[in-house]
Amino acid sequence: MSLANQVAVVTGGGTGIGAACALALAEAGAQVAVGGRRLGPLEEVAARCPGPGTIHARTLDVACRESVEAFFSWVERELGQVDILVNAAGVNVPRRSMQELAPQDWDRLLQINATGAYNCMHRVLPGMRSRARGTIVNISSIAGKRAGPLGGVAYNASKFAMTALGLSVAAEEAEAGIRVTNIYPGEVDTPILEQRPRPVSQEHRRRILQPEDVAAAVMLAVTLPPRAHVAELVIKPTSQVYV
Ligand SMILES: NC(=O)c1ccc[n+]([C@@H]2O[C@H](COP(=O)([O-])OP(=O)(O)OC[C@H]3O[C@@H](n4cnc5c(N)ncnc54)[C@H](OP(=O)(O)O)[C@@H]3O)[C@@H](O)[C@H]2O)c1
Repeated sequence: MSLANQVAVVTGGGTGIGAACALALAEAGAQVAVGGRRLGPLEEVAARCPGPGTIHARTLDVACRESVEAFFSWVERELGQVDILVNAAGVNVPRRSMQELAPQDWDRLLQINATGAYNCMHRVLPGMRSRARGTIVNISSIAGKRAGPLGGVAYNASKFAMTALGLSVAAEEAEAGIRVTNIYPGEVDTPILEQRPRPVSQEHRRRILQPEDVAAAVMLAVTLPPRAHVAELVIKPTSQVYV
């Protein structure tokens, strides 16, 4: 299905999963705005835009409500009302066990991964309600369903919060015609792996998911007809155990 005439926002759209989503959305014809804290990677993604859609870059800090307001006002001025929001902004830290985690890192991870997604959803939902349509995709994580040691204490908590946020709003907005999809990726070969406490080998990176695999799942959720809602989707490397 073509996304021509649709406006999409991808947070964290300069790298990894967000960048792959932005490129796939533009390839399907959407007018895409990518936001992140560093302008450089966002502009690189915009320069790689495959068409027929477009990609527009602007800085955004999802944890800062003023920044979120400025970003979405710019999107509305430049492109129009948001039809699709992909919440892909997220961070982790190397020192992630309860023993090692710094209290300020707990705060930061919750502010970016959980409250950041809330801030962006809160900003786009009134417009979606008034038009009785819209799709929001939250890139949660398997760590948002299973609190294992890989993600760490604060990351797991932030992703459980994101999971609950998505499911709650999906239930509240179903009658309004708004779809909220939670996607739970397993390991994906992206820059966030550089935050792992132990380096990830090239061999391991080759075996796990690539960003475009997750983008394909996002595209399923956003291109199905409005009557069809992908509520939750787990996507993991074949080699990763999920029990
Ligand atoms: N890779 C995996 O194994 C995996 C698995 C499951 C879920 N995920 C989730 O997938 C999402 C995308 O991560 P990724 O794996 O693609 O890693 P990534 O390449 O590091 O992407 C994260 C992006 O978020 C942006 N970001 C961070 N803080 C931000 C903020 N305050 N405001 C706006 N943007 C911010 C970063 O750009 P700036 O630094 O320029 O802001 C970056 O582009 C994350 O939510 C992550 O938790 C990843």
